Amino acid sequence: MSKRIDVSDLNVYYGDFLAVEGVTMAIEPRSVTALIGPSGCGKSTFLRTLNRMHEVIPGAHVEGKAVMDGQDLYAPDVDPVAVRRQVGMVFQRPNPFPTMSIKENVLAGVKLNNKRISKSDANDLVESSLQGANLWNEVKDRLDRPGSGLSGGQQQRLCIARAIAVRPQVLLMDEPCSALDPISTLAIEDLMSELKDDYTIVIVTHNMQQAARVSDRTAFFNIAGTGKPGKLVEMGDTATMFSSPSVQATEDYISGRFG
Ligand SMILES: Nc1ncnc2c1ncn2[C@@H]1O[C@H](COP(=O)(O)OP(=O)(O)OP(=O)(O)O)[C@@H](O)[C@H]1O
Ligand SMILES: [Mg+2]
Repeated sequence: MSKRIDVSDLNVYYGDFLAVEGVTMAIEPRSVTALIGPSGCGKSTFLRTLNRMHEVIPGAHVEGKAVMDGQDLYAPDVDPVAVRRQVGMVFQRPNPFPTMSIKENVLAGVKLNNKRISKSDANDLVESSLQGANLWNEVKDRLDRPGSGLSGGQQQRLCIARAIAVRPQVLLMDEPCSALDPISTLAIEDLMSELKDDYTIVIVTHNMQQAARVSDRTAFFNIAGTGKPGKLVEMGDTATMFSSPSVQATEDYISGRFG
């Protein structure tokens, strides 16, 4: 299920503004890749190019390539909606659909894809997705209650359940723990470690301890100044990046000297 993504010479624009320049990166399957770097360096922008969410903003476009297991995600015949089905996304703030029940939330993505499934298959999918997101035991007795009635950490796990219910190959997470307390954060981190057996995970985080704890590989982005494009400075095994990075700016950032 898990897939690799190879990005080469990717430039990412908002209209004329070049926000991210020249990214070449291999994202390995069955692993967690962390994207780190100071605010405004283009981590979220880059992340959204991996499931073609970037281009929903008017004028936004990319140059270069992003290839998932041999398939160029930006080839003219590729349907962006199909890409988003294969590359799921979890956002910074948990965003369950407020009027929907827990169960309806889990099934929302599947229904959007116009898939017809039987009632018993739907129930199985709800259970397995909630199990996968490590939320089942907490909600199994109230599946018909509103998703918005859960705690922040539970809501974020609900959003993860919704994302994995469509059986994506890749899961993108943009600061998924920044609105969560330490206990919920650890629950999400444990979950990422489990999910990487099945999925390719890319996570943006400002939390260096989190990057060190959960990721296998780390990519450091930086920006030379306001109005300049963000760039990938270096990428490597997380242990190496945190103990002996090859670029001074990486070390300065990781050790908290800027950003
Ligand atoms: N919708 C948009 N339209 C125009 N410019 C944008 C848009 N979103 C982001 N940008 C610009 O693109 C650049 C990169 O922003 P981005 O949000 O990707 O940074 P980031 O690394 O995720 O920052 P943070 O750590 O604060 O989330 C910034 O200069 C930002 O102002
Ligand atoms: Mg961001």
